[in-house]
Formats: sequence, structure tokens, C-alpha cells
Amino acid sequence: MKPLAIIGGTGIDELEGLEVVSSHRIQTPYGEPSRPIQEGRLGKTTVYFLQRHGSPGAIPPHRINYRANIWALKSLGIDGIVAINSVGGITEDMRPGRLLIPDQVIDYTWGREHTFDEGEGGELMHIDFTEPYDRHLRMALLAAADSAGIAHEAYGVHGVTQGPRLETAAEVQRLARDGCDVVGMTGMPEAALSREAHMPYASVCMVVNPAAGLGDLPLTLAMMREILASEAAVVRKLLSELLRQRETA
Ligand code: HPA
Repeated sequence: MKPLAIIGGTGIDELEGLEVVSSHRIQTPYGEPSRPIQEGRLGKTTVYFLQRHGSPGAIPPHRINYRANIWALKSLGIDGIVAINSVGGITEDMRPGRLLIPDQVIDYTWGREHTFDEGEGGELMHIDFTEPYDRHLRMALLAAADSAGIAHEAYGVHGVTQGPRLETAAEVQRLARDGCDVVGMTGMPEAALSREAHMPYASVCMVVNPAAGLGDLPLTLAMMREILASEAAVVRKLLSELLRQRETA
């Protein structure tokens, strides 16, 4: 079985427990990925790890070279990508500390290099994006969460805003009316590029704050990082279980 890749977000700078065996510095037609891709073993399984904000986490969401990241991961011959995203919670169940494995996305980003289609291939790339996340990979994540006893939401809409600023209260109300359950800044165009690259892709969203206007406290990075630290441990457990189940499948 070909290995999976994990894309880490804020709070997941390293994949704890990953025994790194090599580091791949890959040049792509789109430039360099956020940082060299680590190849390692988690338990018995080979896995690749890329931190999308680079190291030490300095690239803001709108400056990430999503095309280089996806191209580079694909070039390693992987089987699929599990993306970790930290998000603000909008609907009632999406309280800080909750995990969501979203099934839908709404893209509010703009001005990002969002496609591999430069109009030069002779064929238009109108990918089917009705279901933005890979069904099998999503199901595998849900099965892993169930068997590891990890509380999670199995369906939800991931709204992706441009950032790097957080939203206004009115923007969050609009996202709620649109049907978004959570809001983050890095889920797109990553998911669409993966589909264009024929690469199964699923997301795990960690809710780290109530979205703007929904909580009692001002939104600070320090507060998000505190939640992130505990949620990151849960995500690691989820990933270990996912890999273990793939190993024994
Ligand atoms: N909005 C957008 N992105 C985020 C948030 C948020 O509230 N929290 C973490 N990433």
C-alpha cells in the first residue's frame, strides 16, 4: 500500500512520534513547497509530513504555495492526503476542543493561485467538486475516530476565508446563514488542487475558538494555542489509529 501524507496546520509543527528517516527538498514547476517534506515512520507505517506554514510556522494562509505543496506531495507517489486545519466554531456543536471531519466546503478566498489549469494543456480542467473530500478517506477517518473513542462531528461545512485577519461578527453571521459550521483560512485551494491532481484528500478540523462575535472573550492567538495543544494530541491519536487500520486492512 502506498503511504499517506499529512499536512499539518497551526499547532502541528512536527508530527509527534514520527521517526524521521529522510527529508525531501523538492523543486516543483510552481516553486518550493512550504518546507522540506519529512518521510518517516509512525509505528510501522511510512508516512510523509508537510507543515503548510513552513518552519517555524511563518507563512500566512494567503501566501502558502498550495500548488507547490500538492505537486511535491504527489511526486512522492502517495495514496492520499489528510489535512489538519484549525478553525473557529460557528454552529452550536462546534465548540472549542471539538473535532470535525467536514464533508463540504465553501470557498471565500480570493487572489490565491488556485488551479493547476494554466490553459496550456489543451483541455479544460472542470473537475467534479460536488463532494470536495474523498469519500473513502473520510470514511476511514471516521472509522478510526470511532474505534479510538474520539468524539467528533462527522458532517459539516468548512468555510474558508482569506485571512490573515479574523472575521468580523457580521461576516460570521453571513457564514452561518450560508450554512458554514466552522471557519478557517487554509482549506482552500488545497482541497481543489488535490482533486485536480487526482489525489484523495480529506480534512480534520480542530475547533480552537468560537468564531468572531460568538464567544465572550476577545480572540487571541494565545487562547487558540492553548486549545490547540490539547487537540493536537487527539489528532495524533486519530492519525495513529488511521494508519494502524490501513496497515491491518
Ligand atoms: N476564523 C478563521 N480562521 C481560523 C479561526 C477563525 O475564527 N480560528 C482558527 N483559524
